[in-house]
Amino acid sequence: MAEGANSMWGGRFAGGVDAIMEAINASIGFDCRLFAQDIAGSRAHAAMLARQGIITEEDARAIDEGLTRVQGEIEAGEFPFRAALEDIHMNIEARLREMIGEPAGRLHTARSRNDQVAVDFRLWVREQCDAAIDGLTRLIRAFLAQAEAGADWAMPGFTHLQSAQPVTWGHHMLAYVEMLARDRGRFHDARRRMNECPLGAAALAGTSFPIDRDFTAQALGFDRPTANSLDSVSDRDFALEFLAAASICAMHLSRFAEELVIWSSAQFRFVQLSDAFTTGSSIMPQKKNPDAAELLRAKLGRIMGANVALLVVMKGLALTYSKDMQEDKEQVFDAADNLMLGLAAMEGMVRDMAPQRQALATAAGAGFATATDLADWLVRALGLPFREAHHITGTLVRMAEEAGCDLPDLTLAQMQSVHAGITDDVLGVLGVENSLRSRKSYGGTAPERVREQIARWKEVLA
Ligand code: ARG
Repeated sequence: MAEGANSMWGGRFAGGVDAIMEAINASIGFDCRLFAQDIAGSRAHAAMLARQGIITEEDARAIDEGLTRVQGEIEAGEFPFRAALEDIHMNIEARLREMIGEPAGRLHTARSRNDQVAVDFRLWVREQCDAAIDGLTRLIRAFLAQAEAGADWAMPGFTHLQSAQPVTWGHHMLAYVEMLARDRGRFHDARRRMNECPLGAAALAGTSFPIDRDFTAQALGFDRPTANSLDSVSDRDFALEFLAAASICAMHLSRFAEELVIWSSAQFRFVQLSDAFTTGSSIMPQKKNPDAAELLRAKLGRIMGANVALLVVMKGLALTYSKDMQEDKEQVFDAADNLMLGLAAMEGMVRDMAPQRQALATAAGAGFATATDLADWLVRALGLPFREAHHITGTLVRMAEEAGCDLPDLTLAQMQSVHAGITDDVLGVLGVENSLRSRKSYGGTAPERVREQIARWKEVLA
């Protein structure tokens, strides 16, 4: 082999690679994160090769012991990572050869880096799905605890960020439980679909060796081997599905982060965030800034960016493997790291936040929030068509606005000047508590419905 040629594939090369080629080609700087998955995949592969009589038991044992030592070195931070060896697969194999000699060269029988990286990366993404599901479960519990503590507390419900109708704090918290539970479902679904083992597809066409793909699939915790070798080495749907689920989840985190930014402002004061998740200003002593919430709001940008970036990497690739696909990992690593951090930060913020019952209740009645209740009463009590009731209520709202008061502050005489049939029964529906209690349709905000949902979610999570 020529001096400087790559020891893993240098046979047909007369010279070494340019330093810039090495820089653009090497992935070891980031795919070193796949070391545990790479070693697990190699272990399963070597065991299978021995069982099938493709390598000797003795060689398989030497490989297995050597891989244990390699893993020990990496975990101890003593492993000599070398950019000249490109990626994690060749770094580990080369080190194995230094340790155990010739048997190391038999490990790559009936295998290619194409199926090797596919299985390593799938194992890594599968673990991240599990981590996301765990993080989501903890966050859901935090929202549920908030819902339970203030199940019947009144707060304004908004559309267009304008006061719409009073709702309960518990109901608002449970809206996030619903969203996050769908996220959990998406990671579960993605995990189920990705749980097929591409190892044994070899470079792209399968292999002439009598391998047992069911054995390796099972050894690595997969449901079954993938059924098409071309697809096996060229598919990155599993990473894309993870990123898509992560993007939607980060969008949910971002929406609550936005609510926290608004709610914690001096103008709203709906919640107090803990010192643990806020910062001060270096110049304005009164400030308590919701930095963690703001950063969470921004995280979606990079997670969704990763999703788009990987879609663009994949979109023009003819089957099967192309080196473009090496660009898959950094995007997924970054997105996964930020998603896990975001879930943990949000869990902390939700656990610590203190909703301000009085401020929420005061705001709940403001902005003519019970106007719909008045219109509904006109329909129920006076038999008016809803459109007419809507019009009469609108007139009363204008009257209150002009008088500088709220709807319940209008006198009966003032109301009767708009519609003579109005009686003092109407006063009962203008209060926030009555309004909340009345919205007891399934999925509605009434405290009794909210408590039923809390009980249901507790059962689901038990
Ligand atoms: N480092 C490569 C990657 O991440 C491994 C697969 C390389 N295969 C190849 N035929 N060059 O995609």
